[in-house]
Amino acid sequence: MVLLRFVRNAGALGIVNRVVSWQCLSRTAENVCGKVVLMKSNKGLEAVTFLWARHCTSRRKEEERVLHLPAMVEESMDMLRPQDHQMIVDMTFGAGGHTREILLRAPKATVFALDRDPLAHSLAQDLAKEYEPGQIIPLLGKFSDLPTLMSEQGVLKNEVDAVLFDVGVSSMQFDRPERGFSLSKDGPLDMRMDGNRNTGQPTAADVVNVLDEQELSLIIKKYGEERLARHIAHAIVESRYTFGKITRTKQLADIVSTAFQGSHKRDKLMRHSHVATKTFQALRIFVNDELNELNNGLEAARYFLKAGGRCVALTFHSLEDRIVKRHFHGIVMESKFNMGASAHYRNSLRVHSLQDVMTVTEKKWTPISRKVAIPSYADSLENPRVRSTKLRGAIKL
Ligand SMILES: C[S@@+](CC[C@H](N)C(=O)[O-])C[C@H]1O[C@@H](n2cnc3c(N)ncnc32)[C@H](O)[C@@H]1O
Repeated sequence: MVLLRFVRNAGALGIVNRVVSWQCLSRTAENVCGKVVLMKSNKGLEAVTFLWARHCTSRRKEEERVLHLPAMVEESMDMLRPQDHQMIVDMTFGAGGHTREILLRAPKATVFALDRDPLAHSLAQDLAKEYEPGQIIPLLGKFSDLPTLMSEQGVLKNEVDAVLFDVGVSSMQFDRPERGFSLSKDGPLDMRMDGNRNTGQPTAADVVNVLDEQELSLIIKKYGEERLARHIAHAIVESRYTFGKITRTKQLADIVSTAFQGSHKRDKLMRHSHVATKTFQALRIFVNDELNELNNGLEAARYFLKAGGRCVALTFHSLEDRIVKRHFHGIVMESKFNMGASAHYRNSLRVHSLQDVMTVTEKKWTPISRKVAIPSYADSLENPRVRSTKLRGAIKL
């Protein structure tokens, strides 16, 4: 079995590396990765760039690769620049797409593969068996657990060469109805990335059934950036009183639709998106404390990176991107105009202690590029889940 990730008609014909037919691809798959290939198909000849092609050895590995396609692989690896003998932390192992790419480029690197999801952790344990012992070190926990987990591995401050974040939810989490993230597939309203690991952690059902209207409205507005947050919160509370507990994803999606005219609207690619998408995002962020986690994760990354070490972050919505930008560009988010930290302190009329000013104006990162990178149109078409991805990278000073 061969799994492929490719972009059709993406290569200039002048740099075509070889011509193969789809039928004989299984024999050549290892050699076409990263190349422009002229494919013979029933439509004639077409140019295809193979970003990713690999033989699969077991059904489970097949599934995990199909279930999550890594986002902006080439661009993120260009920023991360993994090299042999480096210590690299993949903060969001997921199905391991980025970890594999790191080890493809730097086969003698060591990767600490963190994820809070027990399923992802078990995939990391499986993948570790395919490499030299100790080359992939699976770590089960959240970004905020990193200091403890790394010190258990004997890793000290300023020792790590590169850190990668690919935040948000994996397709494995989204596509399994029993995890409760999905709008389209009915399941229990759960949304905990940690699964049942922490028995005390509230689920999305706990949130919608326990909080009052004002609290719900605030969560939906803040974390979903949803204009109709008040109406949605009202619809949820009304439904609770009339019909009892909300326990299923489909049930919640239907309740949210009552606050809108119709259940779908168009997204950036003019595809239909469900009107409850932002509400689901808000609940997910709240349940998993995602924004605080990202903030803590970036602090932890800086602590472990050596000077000159690289940190690369892929984010999927503006709230996450704003946090990454604030860290990498030293922007004070409380300020009205998002000015740089030093400008903020220069302009303020308040008197600050020298210590305060030194702490805030200390430059911690140099951005690798001033401009944010986004996926190509072809990438978004091939894998619509990456369409809102933003990629930033910075070097620790
Ligand atoms: C988009 S997926 C990563 C996919 C991965 N890069 C790949 O190529 O397969 C995000 C992963 O990050 C994990 N994650 C999200 N927030 C986390 C946190 N605070 N701590 C640890 N893992 C987290 C999720 O459980 C999920 O598996």
